[in-house]
Amino acid sequence: MKAEIIINKNYVIDKIDRRIYGSFIEHLGRAVYGGIYEPSHEKADDCGFRKDVIDLVKKLNVPIVRYPGGNFVSGYNWEDGTGDRALRPQRMELAWGVTETNEVGIDEFQEWAKRADTEVMMAVNLGTRGPEEARNLVEYCNSTTNTHFANMRRKNGFEEPFAIKTWCLGNEMDGPWQMGHKTAEEYGRTALEAGKLMKWTDPSIELVACGSSSYTMPTFGQWEWTVLDHAYDIVDYISLHTYYGNPSGDTKDYLAKSVAMDSFIKGVASICDAVKAKKHSAKTVNLSFDEWNVWFHSHGIPFEKWSTAPHQLEDIYNFEDALLVGCMLMTLQNNCDRVKMACLAQLVNVIAPIMTDNGGAAWVQTIFYPFMYASTYGNGTAMKPIIKCDSYKNGQFTVPYVETSIINNEEEKELVLFAVNRSLEEDMEITVTAENFGDYTLVEHIELYSDDMNAINDKDTERIAPSNVEIPSDGKINLKKHSWNMLRFKY
Ligand code: AHR
Repeated sequence: MKAEIIINKNYVIDKIDRRIYGSFIEHLGRAVYGGIYEPSHEKADDCGFRKDVIDLVKKLNVPIVRYPGGNFVSGYNWEDGTGDRALRPQRMELAWGVTETNEVGIDEFQEWAKRADTEVMMAVNLGTRGPEEARNLVEYCNSTTNTHFANMRRKNGFEEPFAIKTWCLGNEMDGPWQMGHKTAEEYGRTALEAGKLMKWTDPSIELVACGSSSYTMPTFGQWEWTVLDHAYDIVDYISLHTYYGNPSGDTKDYLAKSVAMDSFIKGVASICDAVKAKKHSAKTVNLSFDEWNVWFHSHGIPFEKWSTAPHQLEDIYNFEDALLVGCMLMTLQNNCDRVKMACLAQLVNVIAPIMTDNGGAAWVQTIFYPFMYASTYGNGTAMKPIIKCDSYKNGQFTVPYVETSIINNEEEKELVLFAVNRSLEEDMEITVTAENFGDYTLVEHIELYSDDMNAINDKDTERIAPSNVEIPSDGKINLKKHSWNMLRFKY
């Protein structure tokens, strides 16, 4: 098969906000305990954080990490994770049916974030708690005033505020599984009132309202409309969440899921703009895709109830999962005019690119590499490409065989092209024409490929790892069948 890609310097989508390469750590399974934190591990630092994990997080190049949940946050008392550890309570954690020791809380997590060169995106509990506890947490984290919660932080050893800029107003409040689940009316009012007090406490923060927990929720659309109708003036973003899987083993259908993701994004952006119009507002509410990934391999695996940090949601990703994650990243880049933040859910052990053994090794899953290359090289301005290639039908969607995104990094004077060839049978010969860039040369072609869609990485063998492809002398670039690629052109 053949494809033609045309880029024009004047044809841009928007500048990419680096926060689209964010991730997520929830108090769930072994994400915190045995993941980022394991004081007895030989590679633990003076705070008990695993340095081998920190090194991999740095390699992944994650600018922001959502914390502490997820479903967990909707029953969480943030005060439990502050101050003297000897006095912290053990709690029944109802979201995931485990025991939470509270050895790690915001006091420790903000320190971990510094050591991992990342920023905290903080979620507040609007399930079992409300505006009062949310504004107290903003004061604890961000205020310099001589007042109770700011002084509590100082007493706990933190003179300087944590300066957390981005705040999520609860989590998936539309879902009946959520502690303190609300109707759109109830949540819209709560989000407005909590957001008001939080911004009065620190006017510099940005707020994310909960959108639907997935596109397939029966309340999708109406939920966004009602919530924004109440809270439009106070919030800056609305969230989107999606997880895909391939339980039936239909790879062609599976690799098409990112096209559904694109439609989901455009739908939510339209609702934001419809509310904007209805309110005669000059303000634009943007999108925070703060949970996205593949999640299905671990469904139904049992664990011991009320244990601490059991193996939960430990999906082992294969090669085709890496292809879909690569396509989903391109979808985020291609919608960067509206998606300003996104979080790969999650970061360590729990549906994660990084895995650990308790007391043992840390290693990277197949999905690590598409993410690492996107966050490292996908910086600058996303270009709107014209793509001429064959496509196939998948349900209501037309799916191009080549998924692509192109980023113009003006500082580095390079065009970075990410591409997945969705064809399971044929290689794709592509030609790239970049208009108004002057002379340009392909300097690097990185490929992720395997014959085996089910190939996985484990602690002993990295079967799915990037390799360098020789640069062709005739300008004809080959994308292998079912492969992920990154091409860098210097101009
Ligand atoms: O990321 C795992 C879970 O998925 C989160 O806790 C929840 O928000 C979502 O349903």
